[in-house]
Amino acid sequence: MPRVVLGVSGGIAAYKACELLRRFTESGHDVTVVPTAAALEFVGAPTWAALSGKPVSADVWSGVHEVPHVRLGQTADLVVVAPATADLMAKAAHGLADDLLTNTLLTARCPVVLAPAMHTEMWEHPATTANVATLRSRGVVVIEPAEGRLTGADTGKGRLPEPEEIFEIARDVLARVSTGASVGAALTDLAGRHVVVSAGGTRERLDPVRFLGNRSSGLQGYALARAAAARGAEVTLIAANVSLPDPAGVKVVRVESTAELRDAVLASAAGADAVVMAAAPADFRPVSQSDVKIKKSDDGSAPAITLQQNPDILKEIATHRARPDAVIVGFAAETGDATGSVLDLARAKLARKGCDLLVVNDVSGGAVFGSADNEAVILGSDGTSVDVPHGSKSALAHLIWDSVVSRFTPHS
Ligand code: CTP
Repeated sequence: MPRVVLGVSGGIAAYKACELLRRFTESGHDVTVVPTAAALEFVGAPTWAALSGKPVSADVWSGVHEVPHVRLGQTADLVVVAPATADLMAKAAHGLADDLLTNTLLTARCPVVLAPAMHTEMWEHPATTANVATLRSRGVVVIEPAEGRLTGADTGKGRLPEPEEIFEIARDVLARVSTGASVGAALTDLAGRHVVVSAGGTRERLDPVRFLGNRSSGLQGYALARAAAARGAEVTLIAANVSLPDPAGVKVVRVESTAELRDAVLASAAGADAVVMAAAPADFRPVSQSDVKIKKSDDGSAPAITLQQNPDILKEIATHRARPDAVIVGFAAETGDATGSVLDLARAKLARKGCDLLVVNDVSGGAVFGSADNEAVILGSDGTSVDVPHGSKSALAHLIWDSVVSRFTPHS
């Protein structure tokens, strides 16, 4: 059972950590809650003790014979602090240790995830910016705060991301460490990179109420965006008709049609280190759209819809590169046919599209749409091939980023 230390520092969002704690315990994690004294002003020790099933202490003076100030950090598989206040991050960045949580952060050798929550002014203060940069450079995963309603009537950046999002990121980090990704700076190997991910399926309007579309859920693209953000990237997620919550710390641009997707991808690809086209753009659109609802006719005849082909966005960004050093990734769903196997067709597609990597799903045994799992092969234009066994879309996302990172030229 993975051992998680859930640190809670003193902010109003401390109550949301109860929900996070629940998610950890219900999914088989052994959780020790370590609040700060200020956190206990917001949510009392009995709540944490009851929800975690363990005694709770904020200082280093209880159970001293067990040396908790060292033991907790040394034996943890993951430390998550939610909410992490500006004060807590300042202490962590400078190695101060005046209570049980800061001692635990100093002794922990496992991954550390911080979910900041504070007022916008505090988040934007140069001291906080510098502390966050220091922590990230050491491999601490600092989740970008969300925008929205803050403690009072004010709104802005600084809200604690939803407990579900923090949980997903924490679980991702645990999974990466268990599959051999090194702890430390390698956990945040996309820091300083800007990546663009497209997700979902585009819709082509026929009339004000009808469209041509496809069944892409957006799950794989969202997993890619979340994974990149957790690894420290600045992420632009271009979402076509996806009904999933925004991943924490990700800029989401919403589009509907393939033309809108193309505009958004071209606009953001110009400054991107990597573009991953996980979206399923409609390949065709009606030649004309009706401004009014198309009506049935009494004679039983049906209207003919003439289609024209949409531009191939992946091919366009791969062949006319805004940045020659950017890594461009495409997806392909193949079944194999009389002309070749799944991999033959995929290799031909990789060459045709001109991208650097192609993630190939073999869909002959059934579709992957809407499923939480995936199985794939990641083909490289340099002839490489990585088999990804059946697993979560988030595990596949991390392996895709591993392949992308290995193709980056080092920062100058
Ligand atoms: N893609 C794109 N623009 C399109 C269509 C697809 O950028 N108009 C991208 C997808 O995001 C995906 C990849 O291209 O990364 C999929 O390739 P595609 O040729 O669409 O695959 P299939 O639809 O399977 O093509 P075909 O039917 O020709 O095999």
